[in-house]
Amino acid sequence: MPKDSFGREIDYLRISLIDACNLRCVYCMPEHARFAPLKELLTPTQIEMVARAAVTVGYRKFRLTGGEPTLRPDLLEIVERLAAISGVGDLAMTTNAVSLPKLARRLKQAGLKRVNVHLDSLNAHTVGQQMKWATFEDIWAGIMAAEEAGLTPIKLNAVVAAGFNEGDVIDLARLTIERDWHVRFIELMPLGTGECARLSIQRYVSNIETRRRIEVALGRLIELPPASLADESRNYRLPNARGVIGFISPVSEPYCGNCNRMRLTADGKFHLCLLNDDELDVKAALMNGGGEEKVAQILLKAVALKPTGHHLLQGRSTKDRLMHQLGG
Ligand code: 5AD
Ligand code: SF4
Repeated sequence: MPKDSFGREIDYLRISLIDACNLRCVYCMPEHARFAPLKELLTPTQIEMVARAAVTVGYRKFRLTGGEPTLRPDLLEIVERLAAISGVGDLAMTTNAVSLPKLARRLKQAGLKRVNVHLDSLNAHTVGQQMKWATFEDIWAGIMAAEEAGLTPIKLNAVVAAGFNEGDVIDLARLTIERDWHVRFIELMPLGTGECARLSIQRYVSNIETRRRIEVALGRLIELPPASLADESRNYRLPNARGVIGFISPVSEPYCGNCNRMRLTADGKFHLCLLNDDELDVKAALMNGGGEEKVAQILLKAVALKPTGHHLLQGRSTKDRLMHQLGG
């Protein structure tokens, strides 16, 4: 298993397929964001090469992210190629679900195991304000399609922002009573230096507060043992509930010490830590005819150079990349 210089096992690769999205969540990207041209993105063959190299050095867990990964015209081909690699144990995707009514069944057939869906509120008005360009109905239809297709367990991610959805966390949490879903609340992180970072600082809500709101309304949460050491979510259950409520708290309770993640950007760089700028180019090696072995070397170097710690409490993280270029 690849270990970094802090003794952490880094065996989980998050692959961003595209930096574009069909939504404009206020904390994630500006309305007039500019995206990398499709021809600059890694091809399915190149992505498969990186995944194969990752498997040879011990990676087992893979996630497709974006932007919005379903905007890749060749998404099904990419899923098929990755699912066919022996050694790929877990293959999941993070999505806003808008395209799932037409894609969920085919994604399942192609070998995708499950999806995490981003949804900040069950209130149509809030969704329109916070997740611009989305409608609650479209996202909900996508979640239903994912569940019907067996892309389960369904995990919902809600980013909590003051003045937008901070009161809507109760209805989201309530979903877990009847459904065996995981509903996870994420603290805002400022990425980059622009308007999204400013908003993420100004509208930050601590998960201590979110948890308190939920407990006041719905009763005391029962703590669950962590699913794994690297699980970034602290998990709880409401009394007699079927599902799980999770809190992902990078600001109030940093989990860098247990990080097991490496990220591949859509334009072919290993991004060593979500909250730092360090990157190692892998696309150049692929373009120069480098094969699995060369990619594995670069990946191991990326693991060795992986930093730890962040400066979120001082209100800063990356200078260069925004969340939609890193996939969370
Ligand atoms: N802070 C925290 N989480 C964010 N996401 C997007 N922007 C932010 C931010 N500023 C999350 C979304 C999505 C994932 C890709 O990243 O919930 O699920
Ligand atoms: Fe798109 Fe996800 Fe960013 Fe929202 S958070 S704009 S759905 S990539």
